[in-house]
Amino acid sequence: MLTGAVIPLVDLQAAHLEVAEEISDGFHRVLSENSFIKGADVAAFEREFADFCGTEHCVGVANGTDAVELALRAAGLPPGAEVIVPANTFVASAAAAVRAGARLVFADVDPDHLLLDPVSVTKIIGSATAAIMPVHLYGQLAPMQVLADIASEHGAVLVEDAAQCHGAAQGGDRAGTFGLAAAVSFYPGKNLGAYGDAGAVLTNTGAVARRVRLLGDHGSERKYVHSELGFNSRLDTLQAVVLRAKLRRLAHWNRKRLEAAMRYHELLAGLDDVILPQTAPGNLHVWHLYVIQVPRRDLVLRMVNEQGIQASIHYPVPVHLQPAFRRYGYGPGDFPVAEAAATRILSLPLYPQITPDQQAMVADAVRRALKAPTS
Ligand SMILES: Cc1ncc(COP(=O)(O)O)c(C=O)c1O
Repeated sequence: MLTGAVIPLVDLQAAHLEVAEEISDGFHRVLSENSFIKGADVAAFEREFADFCGTEHCVGVANGTDAVELALRAAGLPPGAEVIVPANTFVASAAAAVRAGARLVFADVDPDHLLLDPVSVTKIIGSATAAIMPVHLYGQLAPMQVLADIASEHGAVLVEDAAQCHGAAQGGDRAGTFGLAAAVSFYPGKNLGAYGDAGAVLTNTGAVARRVRLLGDHGSERKYVHSELGFNSRLDTLQAVVLRAKLRRLAHWNRKRLEAAMRYHELLAGLDDVILPQTAPGNLHVWHLYVIQVPRRDLVLRMVNEQGIQASIHYPVPVHLQPAFRRYGYGPGDFPVAEAAATRILSLPLYPQITPDQQAMVADAVRRALKAPTS
């Protein structure tokens, strides 16, 4: 039974209201210039986002899934090379690795942060491993120094899936600066979200940036000269207008997310058998998602949803157990931490404009659901 007000998981309208005028002006400019592909706003956004992240290059692409695939392709991995991907991630991380021609190898995540676990990586890495792909899930970075050491010991590269951590940092360095390349998604609900699909590849290596641009533009650097087969994966000018306007607010919005996360920490403290999300040492967390772990999660989720609170699960099925990956031969029990987490994780509404009252309502609903009788 709904109580009236709905608290969304993400409030895209509230964010839009803060940038509506700038975006409308920008759209009018692009419409009058008729430059929908490769317009000036694309190059400007690429420069601005690279500067924000602290990388030499940013190449806009059509979406985050393409960004992962193009980053791996541009890394020049041999066909069939193994790429290690965490079992707890959005399906696109693994699917894009397969599309890039990799042989997929999954690893488990650590129980405290649910990020790629170096111990699990060490157990499975071998001479065929060409890349490790840490996924900076929920808004914070996987342990990059340890993973970089493991990668270099085995002659593998790091390619970051930075789809969920715009502006997050570790030891003062932003996501996207650690690997050979990093893939970013600007899916609308992300901390930096477009008004449709959009993505980018970040890198400090000029050759990688050039290759992503070439592959994403039909294998062409010069009009109608195609040096190889590529894709159509470019960032639209209209999306670049949106991203430029929102990028100017990203640091502020990330601070508001941090404040909201700290408020949830207080509101939800001391609940039996509930694990609150933790920030790993050295990390600046940008709280893309606030993910708690609760007993009887499906019941709690249903009861909270019935109160008009759009809590959700990221992700209910670990990727290695998805039917699409059956041919890789994984099964239940292979990655116990990811599998146990999938039965307990619950993402609560979090966005820069969420109010303390809304958060108190969410916390009350969670507390009530946890006290519900078992049958
Ligand atoms: C961790 C992760 N990787 C990759 C992607 C793929 O991005 P997109 O939806 O823009 O293709 C997403 C986003 O949805 C994601 O969350």
